[in-house]
Amino acid sequence: MEILIFGHPALRERAKPVENINGKLKETIDKMAETMYKAKGIGLAANQVGILKRFFIMDVSQREGKNKLEVYINPEIVSAEGEMLYEEGCLSIPGYFAPVKRYAKIYVKAYDINETLIEKELEGISAIVFQHEYDHLDGILFIDRLSHIKRQLFKKWWRKHYKK
Ligand code: NI
Repeated sequence: MEILIFGHPALRERAKPVENINGKLKETIDKMAETMYKAKGIGLAANQVGILKRFFIMDVSQREGKNKLEVYINPEIVSAEGEMLYEEGCLSIPGYFAPVKRYAKIYVKAYDINETLIEKELEGISAIVFQHEYDHLDGILFIDRLSHIKRQLFKKWWRKHYKK
């Protein structure tokens, strides 16, 4: 499975709801997990592998050397509060990092791979990654959330590092 890089149109599309949580989706998620771990990422949205469906995976436990994959299908952010600044990166924008302002705490709803409805509160890094991945499903990248000046600097950086 290949991770699409900034500039690919699939990263700018709004993904459609998942209609069936079936074996095929489980297989896809397994492959995505393998791809994410190999790339040493902590989150990967379906858009990033060219699938325009509303689901993503994340694992914020990796740094402790213990894997705990979380799968969010048809996710929703029900409510949010607070503010937090965190240095983000993205597997689709390799090598670039910048601080992004996000909600500090979110209350979310989603289905897991067993079609169980998950309702929970996330904070800290989990809340950040969830919001980042959720944005992907709407075709939004973290660089879109930077100030105008920083976005211009990013464009310059990108041209310099990814000039073909
Ligand atoms: Ni990303």
